[in-house]
Amino acid sequence: MGLIAVIGGSGFSDLHGLRPTGEPQQVETPFGATSAPLTRGTLGAAEILFLPRHGAAHQHPPHRVNYRANLWALRACGAQRVIGLAAVGGITAHCAPHSLLVPDQIIDYTYGRDHTFSDGGGQAVAHVDMTEPYCASLRADLLRAAAAARIPTFDGGTYGATQGPRLETAAEIARLSHDGCDIVGMTGMPEASLARELELCYAALAFVVNWAAGKGDGPITLESIESNLARCKDRVEAVLTALAPEE
Ligand code: HPA
Repeated sequence: MGLIAVIGGSGFSDLHGLRPTGEPQQVETPFGATSAPLTRGTLGAAEILFLPRHGAAHQHPPHRVNYRANLWALRACGAQRVIGLAAVGGITAHCAPHSLLVPDQIIDYTYGRDHTFSDGGGQAVAHVDMTEPYCASLRADLLRAAAAARIPTFDGGTYGATQGPRLETAAEIARLSHDGCDIVGMTGMPEASLARELELCYAALAFVVNWAAGKGDGPITLESIESNLARCKDRVEAVLTALAPEE
């Protein structure tokens, strides 16, 4: 199957089932340091390179994650496929808390992030095609793994990437809903477009940890997000563990 990078999001500063095959490695890049050292290991029969997006102590907020360094380092360490784990809010009725999705589209509402490698400095400007923002073959692998692990997972959905770190207003979510977003998160971009610029095969595995603003009953509490996240963790790991079938 080859080496697969997994970028862990909120709630995933580690993977319980990962058996490391060496010490975590700090990788320097032309864009600075990654969010945390990279851990190489096995999960089931898959060879994994794991990187917690927000840092080992969850110290990097979504708008300050060094997305360029992260993706550059994963490629430099030999990964050609990258799975971004994504805790999200649910907007559409079928995206209730605890749902898992492999989204197929993105709308980017972020701003002010270092969002491209094509940043002047003499090289030719790259206008990468983002018609299909996620890698079809990796999406299919994730859906196949979910089916093998018997974890119900929706095929498709539009991810709205917001700036954070605050949550949205109810009116902002109504706008995202009107735009066609099914789920909302804060890190899906520029991660997906930077991966495309590096010709990495990138897909997201999203898990819903709250109803987005105005879609549930009352305010969104950290306690409910954390308890929903805890309920998603095992199923997300089960999907990842089923990625490479045991021989
Ligand atoms: N909004 C944005 N990002 C999120 C949410 C949300 O409601 N839940 C988890 N990540």
